[in-house]
Amino acid sequence: MQIIRKSGIEPNLENYEGSYATFDWLHGNKEIDYFADGKINAAFNAIDRHLHKGRANKVALYAVSDNGHLEKFTFQEIATAANRLANALKKLGVKKSDRVFVFLPRIAELYISTIAIAKLGAIVGPLFSAFGPDALRDRLIDSEAKVIITNDVLKQKLIEIQGQLVDLDHIVVVNSKTSPLAGEISYEELVKDAPSDPVCEAVSVDHPLYLLYTSGTTGKPKGVVHAHGDIVGHHMSAKWVLDLKEDDMYWCTADPGWVTGTVYGIFAPWSNGISVVCYEGRFSAHDWYALIDKLKVTVWYTAPTALRMLMKAGIQAVNDFKLDSLRHIASVGEPLNPEVIRWGMEAFGLPIHDNWWQTETGMQLIANLPCLPIKPGSMGKPLPGIHASVVDDNGVELAAHQLGRLVVKPGWPTMLKGIWRNEEKFQEYFKIPGWYTSGDNAWKDEDGYFWFVGRADDVINTSGHRVGPFEVESALLEHPAVAEAGVIGKPDSERGEIIKAFVVLKNNVSSSEKLLEELKIHTKNKLAAHAYPKEIEIRTSLPKTRSGKIMRRLLKAWELGLPTGDISALEDE
Ligand code: PRX
Repeated sequence: MQIIRKSGIEPNLENYEGSYATFDWLHGNKEIDYFADGKINAAFNAIDRHLHKGRANKVALYAVSDNGHLEKFTFQEIATAANRLANALKKLGVKKSDRVFVFLPRIAELYISTIAIAKLGAIVGPLFSAFGPDALRDRLIDSEAKVIITNDVLKQKLIEIQGQLVDLDHIVVVNSKTSPLAGEISYEELVKDAPSDPVCEAVSVDHPLYLLYTSGTTGKPKGVVHAHGDIVGHHMSAKWVLDLKEDDMYWCTADPGWVTGTVYGIFAPWSNGISVVCYEGRFSAHDWYALIDKLKVTVWYTAPTALRMLMKAGIQAVNDFKLDSLRHIASVGEPLNPEVIRWGMEAFGLPIHDNWWQTETGMQLIANLPCLPIKPGSMGKPLPGIHASVVDDNGVELAAHQLGRLVVKPGWPTMLKGIWRNEEKFQEYFKIPGWYTSGDNAWKDEDGYFWFVGRADDVINTSGHRVGPFEVESALLEHPAVAEAGVIGKPDSERGEIIKAFVVLKNNVSSSEKLLEELKIHTKNKLAAHAYPKEIEIRTSLPKTRSGKIMRRLLKAWELGLPTGDISALEDE
């Protein structure tokens, strides 16, 4: 596909080959502000430094509420609000390295809280507002969270688990109007008289910045730890991949409960001094297009599911709007179908740039960069400073067109620093000596473009959300009617994959439509709106290994009518 560019704007990264050959992360560091002794603070780089660079009165955040109300906050206003909150949290006893979770919808306080926590050198715990009590409990207990910042509606989800959260000292509630929980403090009261004196803890580059839980195939979600030094990777990747420029109006549709929303919705654009749009509302083709026109969004970062849903809404929905402010569109989270790219050309007159990364990698590593021709269906090429490859199980690099494991040479600045209190899980990423293993399978073509094939494990990717089958199985098992559950991802044209559960009921229970519906609601309430099985099939037994493990691969093969492969481990029925 030809390079298509609006009004001849040159991309920030003009010469891929040249930059790839010469770039060193030390060059990136020149764009970041460090304190004495190599100390740093990501929030300082995102907000405070702009106050001295002529951006104090520039709008940092355009916050659009559910009902379309727009509020603007300058970099100065975000700095002042974050300093007040940071000073108030300090007075409450929050110290460096304490875990403070943010459980809010996409409203200004979410952004302000994230910056305030980072300013203190405390660790930000982003949470999806869609999380149910079980998902919250797992994260808050594992991390020994000290404070959670939430709102009136979401705090209700804490009621049934509060007794188990022994480390949680305070619940800070935005706009509280209902009867307070034990330990509840009003956000507004907290910040009202707090001083706005600048807060900025200078920390080492490895000091934790945020802790984000992500799913694996077994066990509870693991807490991926990222550090303040990541900001250099945030800064450079956003500059290259999102091509952000001073006058851009940038909208990242991702929720900060997902790493995309934390990194590319907050730290990366703000480090570049760019105006960010945040929209509290849910997906709606009409509302999204209207927002782009109203705020004249220029750079738009979204996900394949959203694009597929827009595509479904039809070209007529597009024609009702101008959408002529857009100049660059990027997508991440799951494979971007070539068909969607072609539709994007028709709808917006622009190509959609796919890119690849993971919670663990901390930043975009492979991308269809604006200076390179797009190959529809490919994730693109590694960014300067990134050595990605496709290897066999022994770490031997494979030739073009050979399928293998997608790996990256450690040494890029945003690589995960650890799994929260789980060294063993952390080490699993480095099982192939000399490489970080992504868990994805891919191949590379003769031009160095990477092509995604699938996950090497059973992790499900539904609408860009990673869901571990084990979490869903555990939630189903908590229902009194369920004896056993096996969960797989089933390919779906809109969501990438949907969650399908195979369930064995207890002896005295019989299946009914009502029960299936109840199981779906039960899982949704326990985990999250995106983590429930859209399809449930009742079975009399599940295929298991001799050691009792459910053979999800076999369930999947049966479901998709694929060869079952080696089933020697299958337990005798
Ligand atoms: O399987 C890959 C898929 O999403 C996984 C990462 O999920 P998560 O940590 O939630 O995402 C973080 C930010 C993107 C990957 O291991 N994935 C991500 N991007 C792509 C993708 N699969 C195909 N194409 C992509 N561009």
